[in-house]
Amino acid sequence: MKKLIDRIGAELGRAFEAAGYEASYGKATLSNRPDLCEYQCNGAMAGAKAYHCAPIQIAERVVEKLTGNPMFLEAVAVKPGFINLKLAPEAVKEYLQNMAAEERLGCDKAENPKTIILDYGGPNVAKPLHVGHLRSAIIGESIKRLGRFMGHTMIGDIHLGDWGLQMGLIITELRHRKPELPYFDENYGGEYPKEAPFTISELEEIYPTASAKSKEDEAYKEEAMQATYLVQHGHRGYQEILRHILQVSVTDLKRNYENLGVSFDLWKGESDAQPYIPDMVEEMKRQGFAYESEGALVVDIREETDAKEIPPCMILKSDGASLYTTTDLATIVERMKLFHPDEIIYVVDKRQEMHFIQVFRCARKTGLVGEDTRLRFLGFGTMNGRDGKPFKTREGGVMRLEHLIADINEEMYQKIRENQEIPEEEARRTARITGLSAIKYGDLSNQASKDYVFDVERFTSFEGDTGPYLLYTIVRIKSILAKYGEQGGDLGQAVIREPQSEAEKALMLEAAKFNGVMETAFLEIAPHKICAYLYDLANAFNKFYHETRILKEEDKERQKGLIGLLLLCRRILETCIHILGFEAPDRM
Ligand code: ARG
Repeated sequence: MKKLIDRIGAELGRAFEAAGYEASYGKATLSNRPDLCEYQCNGAMAGAKAYHCAPIQIAERVVEKLTGNPMFLEAVAVKPGFINLKLAPEAVKEYLQNMAAEERLGCDKAENPKTIILDYGGPNVAKPLHVGHLRSAIIGESIKRLGRFMGHTMIGDIHLGDWGLQMGLIITELRHRKPELPYFDENYGGEYPKEAPFTISELEEIYPTASAKSKEDEAYKEEAMQATYLVQHGHRGYQEILRHILQVSVTDLKRNYENLGVSFDLWKGESDAQPYIPDMVEEMKRQGFAYESEGALVVDIREETDAKEIPPCMILKSDGASLYTTTDLATIVERMKLFHPDEIIYVVDKRQEMHFIQVFRCARKTGLVGEDTRLRFLGFGTMNGRDGKPFKTREGGVMRLEHLIADINEEMYQKIRENQEIPEEEARRTARITGLSAIKYGDLSNQASKDYVFDVERFTSFEGDTGPYLLYTIVRIKSILAKYGEQGGDLGQAVIREPQSEAEKALMLEAAKFNGVMETAFLEIAPHKICAYLYDLANAFNKFYHETRILKEEDKERQKGLIGLLLLCRRILETCIHILGFEAPDRM
């Protein structure tokens, strides 16, 4: 369905043409002066030069051609040459009627659906999820859902960090603790146990212990590096341990991501890319892209236009070991082979930007991806505490994600309890639902690339630009609708009527923006634009709600129209929050 703003633009274009000007000047924009008009057109100013006349003259002539146009209630030319527009109630009604009749609320699916791989989450196995992983999960999930809504094939890949030194460290520590295990017996030829030799809590303790030891003990570190080398080169027993680590870790990760409402289509990891490395490296050498420099194998990726020095991309270290870049390059090979994506989007901490510049340039230069595959890095900023420093626990340690979520849920629970008497179990459940909205909305409402302050107090508030405020608004709508239903009202087909008040019209105009917002948000991969829209829509709704009798309205026909508008608003709000990755409770 054409965007309302484009419909207005089309009418303007026709009027410009009828007045003897080029139609392309007839573009509509949102009003800069909502006190004066709803939409405006600045085309007369742009056209003044070309037509050698005062903009106001053009504006006046165009306005003349707009008289009688059923789309507008009012079209006025004001100095220096603006055309201020107010829409006809009938036109607004018609637009919303069409919207309500469509399953997708007037938002067209992409004309050329793409296959897009979304690399997000990126946790490292055997290490607990901490707040640093939160942003990638939240932002990535919403982009995935948004892309799907727009009709693209979105493939979410968690891209586990499962190939580094941490594996060697765990193996080494395990070896010190339980040398009798068959994995360490070089002569062992039998089957290995099915059960992992550790639980998740042990694993989470083993890793930091080993990591600390390796920093003090050279020999220990040497051992861990050797173990890493062996596991990466097919050591039977070690690979079995790797399998256990993955299994235990992934089970735990799945539970955690599920609590966050985040899911992945692929649970692949760095280790899955390894089989692609040898051929890839050979090919880079054969084509003369990769050459030896100080023992290491590198590819030059400098470009003439570079303002700063971009170091060569390292493919192999001097001992032949692969690196983070190697793994990411080989993962591109794998993804191209398995999925032929039109696009790969990486949702990763912006501090890794240089890494991705190197990987992307190298992938292009060496032909791992062709012209028609786009590589995009969506770097996000740091989540800070109220002190403006990276978010920490009260004791100053790294905050585990589970604890953060538990804290927020507790905060929400207290607030819900203060607000009303509801059964314990429901209060807990509602606290979880609203808590998630607080976390996700608090994150997503900021432009992803910026740092932001995670402010528990503010994020959990029922007032202001917060997740709970939005849920509160939805719950309010749901409750009115439920009461209307109890009074025998029909909640089936939404009847849309002409607006009767300023607040109602404003709400309808806000609702009408839905398709445009979705389109822009996807184009710019900007979930924060959906948040801004939701906030505007919720504000418009609440203003309307406070000024309008709905359940007490005596004119039943008018009431049907009000209820129809509520039904439509609920659908829009729920569609949007679903895309952001959370849901609304029935009451709170
Ligand atoms: N595991 C990495 C980290 O914790 C993030 C992975 C991001 N994705 C990628 N393809 N490199 O920093």
